[in-house]
Amino acid sequence: MKTILTTSPIEAAEFIRRGGIVAFPTETVYGLGANVFNESAIAKIFEAKRRPNDNPLIAHVGNLEQIKLLVKEITPDARKFIAAFFPAPLTLVLPKAERVPLIATANLETIGVRMPRNELAREFLKACKTPIVAPSANLSGKPSPTDWQAVFEDLDGRIDCLLQGEMTEIGLESTVVDCTSNAPLVLRSGAISLEDLQKIIPETRDYQIKKDESPKSPGLKHKHYAPRARVILVSDFRFQISDSSAFIGLNEPPPDFDLIKICRSVEEYAHEVFAFFRTCDRENITTIYCETVAENGIGAALTDRLKRAAE
Ligand code: TXA
Ligand code: MG
Repeated sequence: MKTILTTSPIEAAEFIRRGGIVAFPTETVYGLGANVFNESAIAKIFEAKRRPNDNPLIAHVGNLEQIKLLVKEITPDARKFIAAFFPAPLTLVLPKAERVPLIATANLETIGVRMPRNELAREFLKACKTPIVAPSANLSGKPSPTDWQAVFEDLDGRIDCLLQGEMTEIGLESTVVDCTSNAPLVLRSGAISLEDLQKIIPETRDYQIKKDESPKSPGLKHKHYAPRARVILVSDFRFQISDSSAFIGLNEPPPDFDLIKICRSVEEYAHEVFAFFRTCDRENITTIYCETVAENGIGAALTDRLKRAAE
């Protein structure tokens, strides 16, 4: 199939209306969208990404009204988070409405709902006039795409349209919070931190997978965010560097790396890390040394992604 590139959210939404799949920017990472009520369009997403079909999709809405189309109930906890944060890099897991097809949620009776705050995403969603399910717009297992070129690299010829926007503002995927249990549970960390959520609902907790339990968030069991190169986490510079190595972190490393990215803040590190992984793969780097960061604020989400990449 030919992939059409456009900067027009109206043109991109036309492809959704005709049952196609469209990559679009958000403030977190680029998503690959389909109409949540169109089962054959959703099937195309799984095929294009080579995504395992037990991994549920997040539904994106252009306004708060649309949430009612997707869920049985907006739980009291979810109501508080919506009032405090939406639109935001935050996904709330809620009981799904009957009319949402099970292919969207990988047979779960719950659905993740998010209202992006990125301007182009909002124009696109508004023009679609329907909620849009969208996983990150990468081939399964690769780092999430933070610019349209990364989407193109993975999905050119596999999707109908690519809405070209800027590089994404945050660079890591949204925080996912289960709002169906007694207390909110953070299933995936993101730019909205545990501390931010606890300011609204103090009982909010991080989800820890118990041994032998199947994970609440199916995506957590799949290998993720990994470049081809080996990723090693380091907290100092007392290590032996191997051939064709790269470094990303906050402090200046010894000069013997082939590629070096020094970030001025943890936010910039989060913003750059997935694009850096892709650059390293293009340059045939074999080992990427990533400096560890303090695990508060977005540092928790960055640490989570670095650990997964290093697994
Ligand atoms: O920032 C983001 O969330 C991006 C942009 C495009 O919005 N999307 C994204 O989607 O990262 P994806 O599919 O790559 O990751 C979705 C994560 C997976 O770990 C999945 O298991 C979890 O959210 N998830 C989705 N629906 C769920 C549900 N009903 N229950 C538990 N976890 C769910
Ligand atoms: Mg993903």
